[in-house]
Amino acid sequence: MHSHHHHTKTPAPAADLARGSTLYLGADDIVRLVRRKGLPACLAGVAGRIEQDFLRWPEWDKSARVACHSRDGVIELMPVADAAQFAFKYVNGHPKNTAAGLPTVMAFGLLADVATGTPQLLAEMTLVTAIRTAAMSALAAKRLARPDSRVMALVGNGAQSEFQALAFRDVVGIRELRQFDVDPQATAKLVANLAGQGLELTVCTSVAEAVRGADIVTTVTADKTRATILTPEMLEPGMHVNGVGGDCPGKTELHPGVLEAASVFVEYEPQTRIEGDLQQMPADFPVTEFWRVLNRSHPGRRAADEVTVFDSVGFALEDLSALAFVHEAATALGVGRRIDLVAQPQDPKNLFGLLHGDDDTAAAPRRAQPVEA
Ligand SMILES: NC(=O)c1ccc[n+]([C@@H]2O[C@H](COP(=O)([O-])OP(=O)(O)OC[C@H]3O[C@@H](n4cnc5c(N)ncnc54)[C@H](O)[C@@H]3O)[C@@H](O)[C@H]2O)c1
Repeated sequence: MHSHHHHTKTPAPAADLARGSTLYLGADDIVRLVRRKGLPACLAGVAGRIEQDFLRWPEWDKSARVACHSRDGVIELMPVADAAQFAFKYVNGHPKNTAAGLPTVMAFGLLADVATGTPQLLAEMTLVTAIRTAAMSALAAKRLARPDSRVMALVGNGAQSEFQALAFRDVVGIRELRQFDVDPQATAKLVANLAGQGLELTVCTSVAEAVRGADIVTTVTADKTRATILTPEMLEPGMHVNGVGGDCPGKTELHPGVLEAASVFVEYEPQTRIEGDLQQMPADFPVTEFWRVLNRSHPGRRAADEVTVFDSVGFALEDLSALAFVHEAATALGVGRRIDLVAQPQDPKNLFGLLHGDDDTAAAPRRAQPVEA
């Protein structure tokens, strides 16, 4: 019935963009994509993109994320843009979810063309969030930890933990993990998942035991409380602390004394002051935004015995970098499908015409046909 529109099946790229068909990547698509590329390649690829994008820091339109807090969790929107691309992520954080069989963190996001506002990619981002968080942490540790770091304590062995372990293996050179979780089943899961991946694994029975002798300490626990997972007495000279789980008002992992004893690095200072372990410190407590270390306007670690902290909360630019990586990979591998996320009438001023069926946009081959009752 739409034979007279068949010529639109092979539009020029520009015409395709004008039509605004959006690439959709659901959870299955993302799993397929990561399996085909391989997780190490994804971690490295996303880390590389984050580094390049952070080096253009002043060019980004940045804001602290919008957060809707509730009794057991938070739902957040994270926007960022430059002159060419806009992205946002929807992400939740509900530490009690796992007891009900749901993930603590779930996410999806969108990439759009700034010139026209056309949505280009709508993607599941739960797996992508784990990858980008681990890539960001490892990138920070590569610059902030001692270069000879080989042993990492991993406290919190839930959904994010294996990704952290593998990113630190590949990007930082970690060879030995000392893992602890209050839930022994989480630790057993991590040990099973990481068997045969080139990491020596040591199960510990306390945080203090895990941290003893470690070069790097990663805390990635989930609890909606002012926790003190890491206390000052556990610190050893030269340690690097990668604090991932303290990422919300009223939700911290590091004792304030840990921050006092360290040089503290953050993603985007206005956001971390509200959300990070930094929320416990006075407003003038000194911190350095990590992009300054990347562009070498700040030296990063200054001495082998200095304690460094990366107070990670997760910044929107990391998600844009990850979405751009995913978009490129999906396009190259032909993963995903086009959806009609937004209405695009043939005559853009005749939106009303869509309701009368006298707009031939309905004939566009990539539009899903409405199901008639
Ligand atoms: N900074 C970021 O960019 C970023 C990104 C994603 C997730 N997160 C945060 O990271 C944390 C972990 O996320 P996840 O998806 O792995 O959650 P998860 O619920 O799957 O795992 C968290 C683990 O922490 C353990 N835990 C809780 N309290 C503990 C304690 N006192 N000592 C040791 N272990 C403890 C739990 O038993 C659980 O196994 C969450 O707080 C989440 O909000 C941060």
